[in-house]
Amino acid sequence: MRHPNLLIEISREDPHNYAMTTATPIIDLKGVTFGYPGGPPVLRDLDFTLCAGERIGVIAPNGSGKTTLFHLIMGLVKPLAGQISIFGKALREEKEFSEVRRRIGLLFQDPDDQLFSPTVLEDVAFGPLNLGKTKAEAAAIARQTLAALGLNGFEDRITFKLSGGEKRLVSLATVLAMEPEVLLLDEPENGLDIRTRAKLSEILGKLDIAYILISHELDFLTNVTDLIYTMEDGRIRRDEELHVHQHLHAHPLGSRPHRHS
Ligand SMILES: Nc1ncnc2c1ncn2[C@@H]1O[C@H](COP(=O)(O)OP(=O)(O)O)[C@@H](O)[C@H]1O
Ligand SMILES: [Mg+2]
Repeated sequence: MRHPNLLIEISREDPHNYAMTTATPIIDLKGVTFGYPGGPPVLRDLDFTLCAGERIGVIAPNGSGKTTLFHLIMGLVKPLAGQISIFGKALREEKEFSEVRRRIGLLFQDPDDQLFSPTVLEDVAFGPLNLGKTKAEAAAIARQTLAALGLNGFEDRITFKLSGGEKRLVSLATVLAMEPEVLLLDEPENGLDIRTRAKLSEILGKLDIAYILISHELDFLTNVTDLIYTMEDGRIRRDEELHVHQHLHAHPLGSRPHRHS
């Protein structure tokens, strides 16, 4: 299904009226253009800002460049033009991006890109170990994180034998174990059953950090984010005229995007 272009404003008056807010930009992209070698531009002159405390959703068709946007923020690919500033600093060199990767947690779209250790505990402890924790501290953090995600008993499971949904939750544990200041979540609900999805919503609701969440599920997005953007022609769309308010009353159109005249 192709989602109509929309900006959904759920719980705040006008979170992006920066003139009226003192919000600090955490991630700031200005005029970013990017294309893969030999291919057409994927992102074109894109502007995007995530401020402290914001929970932004992105819903857009496959191939719009959502995952590419996350990879640019993490410095996994480099822009052809434009400026990426994170935590108030314009980033250019690889060294600067490696600091960003310690502070921003990326949940990959494909859990197989995230998990590489033989067992679950080793995978979740890897991040904290890398941040300088001792083996015992890292194992303790890993156990706590797994427990918080309802994954007690998964410690010694063989990572590659987990189901898709289990892999996604373990991936989330590997990211959260590093205590990121910001999260980039690429289709985190994908492959999760209804109960696990509800659990994920609950976990996200309790997190006190800013995040950007990519999803194809509008219901899920309205639960866990405050603002929803779409992408079109290589840009983030934030057309104020197209904004739609979320309704809490019963409605014949349910969760389908709709406009009121
Ligand atoms: N590693 C890559 N090499 C070449 N083209 C790629 C690569 N990754 C993605 N693309 C292309 O870039 C476009 C955007 O991809 P992507 O960011 O994954 O979109 P989305 O996450 O919105 O589905 C697509 O046309 C895709 O085929
Ligand atoms: Mg993607």
